[in-house]
Amino acid sequence: MSGGRLRLGVNIDHVATIRNARGGVHPDPLRAAQLAAAAGADGITAHLREDRRHISDTDITRLSEEINLPLNLEMAATEEMLAIALRHKPHACCLVPEKREERTTEGGLDVAGGHNHLAPFVARLSEAGSRVSLFIEASPAQLEAARKIGAPVVELHTGAYCDAFAEGRTDAAARELERLRQAAAFGAELGLEVHAGHGLTFDTVKPVAAFPELAELNIGHFLVGEAIFTGLDAAIRQMRILMDEARAEGHA
Ligand code: PXP
Repeated sequence: MSGGRLRLGVNIDHVATIRNARGGVHPDPLRAAQLAAAAGADGITAHLREDRRHISDTDITRLSEEINLPLNLEMAATEEMLAIALRHKPHACCLVPEKREERTTEGGLDVAGGHNHLAPFVARLSEAGSRVSLFIEASPAQLEAARKIGAPVVELHTGAYCDAFAEGRTDAAARELERLRQAAAFGAELGLEVHAGHGLTFDTVKPVAAFPELAELNIGHFLVGEAIFTGLDAAIRQMRILMDEARAEGHA
């Protein structure tokens, strides 16, 4: 795995957030997914949270049945979510930590300290044909644990890097980026497929996209926010251009 085309998964959760602010059906996440497909997205990502604050069960049914792109279902490792995933058998399932009070997914899964709680989820989803990924911090211990429990894919949490960048903490951003770079390389060495995501923007995507070991980025909030100003199509196309530039240049 080195330097191939980097896939872009577009996370449409926050289209549902805007819809739910008023109730009703507009804006429709399915329409956003179809638009994302036309703009060059390689996959659609949606997080069915336990409290259903944005994506709903009906959204997952409609996305499963009506989009022509692979669906990546982000989910907590709970029996309820497992049953839903086994019913829909999405292309991919990304296991994420979830706390009701958080605003977004804060921190990665503790796979290393998880006492194998996650292993049965990885096994049952894999048996059903979904490609299972674990959303983790960029740490060697988490990567080793992910491999040990049989996950074929990990997604590295880019939130700390993006937060440091946004707050102008340049040294911290550089440190976090280096941690991500090493984790991407180590993950690939372990035979894992490595993805990354959370908080990525036009300003932060290129240094991450340049890591040759990465196979996929999942990006949502920024694209939906940017869609207010330029439209979703233009935002996705610009993100794709930046990702391709980073790959071609091999650096930020
Ligand atoms: N990857 C994972 C595992 C996530 O939980 C999220 C947020 O839902 C994202 C990527 C996308 O993050 P953002 O919406 O900040 O781009």
